[in-house]
Order: sequence, then structure tokens, then C-alpha cells
Amino acid sequence: MTDTDPSYWPAFVRNDKCGRVAARSPAKALPLSALIDRRQLLMRAAAAVAVTSIVPFTDRAYGAAKPPPFAFEEIAAIAASQDRLPPGYERQIVIRWGDPLFADAHGFDFTGQTAERARRQFGYNNDYTAFIPLPFGSERSDHGLLVINHEYPLPQLMFPDLNADKVADSISREQVDICMTSCGVSIMEVRQRGGAWQVDTASAYNRRITAGTPVNISGPVAGHEKLRTSADPQGTRVSGTHDNCNGGLTPWGTILTCEEGSADFFAGNVDRHPDRAHMKRNHYESSAYGRYGWARFHERFDFNAEPNEPNRFEWVVEIDPFNPDLPPVKRTALGRFAHEGAHCALTADGRVVVYLGDDWEYEYCYRFVSDRRVNPVNRTANRDLLDHGTLSVARFDTDGTVRWLPLVWGQGPLTPDNGFADQADVSLYTRRAADLMGATPMDSPEGFEPDPISGHVFIALTGNEERKVSEINCANPRPANKHGHILELVPPMVCGKVDHGAEQFDWHVFLLCGNPENASDGADFHPATSANGWFVEPDNIGFDPAGRLWICSDGPGSRKMDGLWAMHTHGTAAPIPRLFYTPPIQAECCSPAFTPDGRTMFLSIQHPSEKAMNVGEALTGWPDFSPGIPPRPSVIAIQRNDGAPI
Ligand code: FEO
Ligand code: CA
Ligand code: CA
Ligand code: CA
Repeated sequence: MTDTDPSYWPAFVRNDKCGRVAARSPAKALPLSALIDRRQLLMRAAAAVAVTSIVPFTDRAYGAAKPPPFAFEEIAAIAASQDRLPPGYERQIVIRWGDPLFADAHGFDFTGQTAERARRQFGYNNDYTAFIPLPFGSERSDHGLLVINHEYPLPQLMFPDLNADKVADSISREQVDICMTSCGVSIMEVRQRGGAWQVDTASAYNRRITAGTPVNISGPVAGHEKLRTSADPQGTRVSGTHDNCNGGLTPWGTILTCEEGSADFFAGNVDRHPDRAHMKRNHYESSAYGRYGWARFHERFDFNAEPNEPNRFEWVVEIDPFNPDLPPVKRTALGRFAHEGAHCALTADGRVVVYLGDDWEYEYCYRFVSDRRVNPVNRTANRDLLDHGTLSVARFDTDGTVRWLPLVWGQGPLTPDNGFADQADVSLYTRRAADLMGATPMDSPEGFEPDPISGHVFIALTGNEERKVSEINCANPRPANKHGHILELVPPMVCGKVDHGAEQFDWHVFLLCGNPENASDGADFHPATSANGWFVEPDNIGFDPAGRLWICSDGPGSRKMDGLWAMHTHGTAAPIPRLFYTPPIQAECCSPAFTPDGRTMFLSIQHPSEKAMNVGEALTGWPDFSPGIPPRPSVIAIQRNDGAPI
């Protein structure tokens, strides 16, 4: 591909006139006037009845447009050692932990692993999953790149001789190095042939990025004195990325991989750290070796020995999957916190917007808006777009509006009087800046995505059991929130487009999770929701090409299994969630990603049997079910047997 040929650009960027938003599939797109009508109805109702922006499902009005109905028969909500799908659907394993990414790579050998082998194999605990059609900008649904995050290791299930309660004390150096190499990102070319998806191990695009890959640092915090270490006196180049949770795809075809938090990976005594207040604000705790034992063999993970090393993590990292020689870049303008995901949209005038959740109890929802417009005909021109822009934090108000409060040095309390010398300080101490701005403390924001058809933005909050009655707020209305909830945000229209850059959106509580049969849960689902259809602890969400919402849970909580539910969010079809898929026991399914034709859904299956103390006690051997092979995190492709869209 070339950077400058507009035919390679996605339709939503190519066709942009005033900015963008209504994306592809115009035949199926809702008339936005219908959505606005419904929104206004909801807002009027909310203003009339409550100060919490909760309109019970029974009182809601729905618009006239009609996304296609779901074709599947809902499955039963039970945990099993196998994954489960409705009749008429099948899944195949695309790639498993340890499978070769390159033609000359070793196959998986449970008792013969080395870090060198792992560097050329698919990593562990896959989470974020993106399908990018090849060539870039085409609508090809049988050929593309898969870009997949590897979040964290589970050494007790990766090696035959480790037990969960002694990992950090007993793990060997070689095992630590295998774990470090099994974190990060995998990029691979895939094709569908004869109905089957295959990894092309000969592709020049295939790549592993690990906890040891050189990564550049850019944006306001690059070179900050608090980022300088003995290995990097300039503070501009860091070894690796880890805790890569979810992510996002930019309009110019790069991947944003999100570092969700490093506290588990580091060791040391917080009270002896020179910046202990900052460490505590970022949820670091004291430990001898960290959860995974990395500090025993790599001194940079001891924050007493190398106090600035933690500051070099918990960023959003941009990777160009089409340029394997280009180093990944940590984009510090997007703030430092437990980055869950980074899903993109555009302002009405064509600047990029990135939605960012900080997945921790009482933390915040953020939004980044670039200064410059996306260049729709030259990918290279967008290379530093994410270094210049405004990061804002959300304050949800009882009048049904959410305001984006800019984190800009010199404005409001973000001044030298409060310890902020410049914009670099504001970006590095993002959470403290957001505290001072009066942002709304949330119940662990995870999935945070715009619907490409309606432009509405949905936020999945997994829960916050710590929240006291005195701490509830309009957007987090339940104390001891065990079950989580989902918010719907509605940006305004400008020039006939949804404006994701507006200073103020409308919002309301979309649903409250829990068991509707159990009054003490305080759940609010559509009354027609079945006994299998309700869910708890929503995590990743995703939209299919028709704009229908898919929700992954990460519990299992009171549902006693995790799963993937689908529901409508607009149109005449009632928003009734239906259970579509259950992963193997003690696994979470992550990041539903669709081909443009909606006929394949890729899904990451993370941590099967995660609670087992060791391999011998694993509750499932998924997906191999073969003696001597442990459960393996894997990516699957789900299709209908008749080849129709899912
Ligand atoms: Fe990595 Fe918040 O899930
Ligand atoms: Ca998650
Ligand atoms: Ca989670
Ligand atoms: Ca999880």
C-alpha cells in the first residue's frame, strides 16, 4: 500500500465533507433525526422524573429505525469446560498461545519453552483484538491483519512446576523472561480460505512486540526529569510495553495499545519512594518481588532502585502495523492512568477523538481531541497527531449533561501553586489534575466506545464494591456496586454530523446490571429479558457493522459464568440482551471484532481456568484437551454455518 493513495483509506475518512460520523452501511444507518427525537424524549423524561438520569426501561420510547434482528437462538447461562454457541454457528481456533507467528518459529512445547522461542510465537492472555482489512481502506472480509494484545502472564498455568501462591518467590529467570516475552502485542496477516481462517506465517507484516521491545516516548512528557533512568538518561526511550489491555484503531490505520497499570509488575517499598504520594495516588503497593517476580531478575522493576521506571508505563502506545520497522510510540498527551481502551471517533470538523477509561474504582473517564484534523490522503501526515491536543475529563451532572473539563496547564487549578510547572506535569500527574478539576469518580470504566452508526457513546462500568452510600453520584447511582452498569452518552449534531469534540454531551444510565429477579440487586433491564439474558460486570463492548451492541462480561460474579451478550440499542427493536456465547470455564471473552461484512466475529478468549493454583488443577484443557497441554488463551473466529452475517 502507499500512504498517499486515497483509495486505500476507509470510506468514513475518504467521504468526509464537513467532518464525519455516519460511517459505512448507509442503507442500514438510522436516520439521525430519529435518534435525536428519541434522545430528546429521554432527556425530557429524565428531567421530569429524577436527578439521576435514570429512566427505567419500562418508561422508555424507541425510535422508528430498525437494525436487523438477531438470528440466533439464545443459549443457556452455564459454565462448562468447552465454549458454547447457538445452533447453526461454529467457531474455529485462529491461534493459541505458543503457536508460531513466523515460518521458522518453533511450535508450542510446554516443557521446552525458551524466551527466544516465545519471541516468535503468539503471546499469552490475549485481550484487544482488531481486524484491519487488506489492503487498508478496503472492505475486504477475507484478508487482513489481526492485531492482538497480550495483557499479563499467569505463570502458574504457563509452566508445569509453579503454584499460584508462590510464583514471585519461586519463578526462575528463564521463566520470567518467557513471561516478559509473552506480554505485549502480536500482529499477523490472516486469510480465509475455503471457509477457514489461516495465519500466513510468511507475511512480512507479522511482528511481536514484547516487554523488551524498544519503544519511543513522545508528547509533552517525553524527556521529563521524572522519566529519566540509568538506562535512559534522556527519558525518551523505554524497554517494552506490558499490561496491554484493550485498545483502539485510529482512522489512519495505526493501533493504540493500552497499558492498564504497572503496579502488579513492580516491587519495592512505597514509603521509601521519593515520590510516595504520587505512587500511592497511582495505586502502587509495597511488595518484595511484585506479583510476577520480575524484580528478582530485572532491577528496573524495583522502584526503590529505579524510582522513575514506573512513570514510563501506564500510557497509550501507538503502533503502525503496516511499518514493521517503525518503533511503537508512547503518546503521553493521552495521560497516565490505568488505560483500558482507546476507541476513536472524529469531531465534526475532522479532528480525531480518543475515548479513554481509567479502569479502577473511583477513577475517571477521559477524552482526547487532537489539535489538527486527520489528513485523509496521507497516513504519514498523521504520525504525530496524537502528540498535540487536549485531554479532558468527564463530569456527569444531574441535569443530564456531561461536561468535558480540559486538563490544560495554567487553567483553573492546574498551576504552579498546585505543583504543576507545565503541561508535562499535568500529563504525568493526570489523576491528580482530574481530582482538582472535580471530575466524577466512576465505578471502574472499561468498554468506552462510539456506535459507528448512531454516534452515541457507551461506557461499560464493571463495578465498585467499595462505594459507600455517601459516595453515590448521578452516574454511579448504587452503593456497593457489585454488578456494574452501562451509560449512554449522546454528542450533539453539528453540520449534520455527530460532534464528538463538543464540550458537552447529553447522557443517561442505559442499564443497571444484576439479577432482575433479585430485588436487592437493583437491576434495570428491559422487562422481557430472559433468565439467560441478564448479565453482570460488563467489560469490553463492541458494535457490529449494523450497529448492534455486543457486551463481554468479566466477572463472573453472581452470574457464575462469563459470556458474550448481544442487544439492540436503538430502533424499533427492544433493547433486550441475549446470551450468544460462553467461553470455557474461568475464561473471559474480550474484544469482539467483526469483518466489514459482519460474517466473521473474532473474539479473544483470555485466561481459561484462571483460578487454578497450578496446571494439574486446571478445570479445563481448552482448546486442545490433550494430555500434557495446559489450557491456552486463544483467538477464535465465529461464523454462521450458512455463511450469512452473524
Ligand atoms: Fe484489562 Fe480493565 O481490563
Ligand atoms: Ca477489560
Ligand atoms: Ca476487567
Ligand atoms: Ca479479567
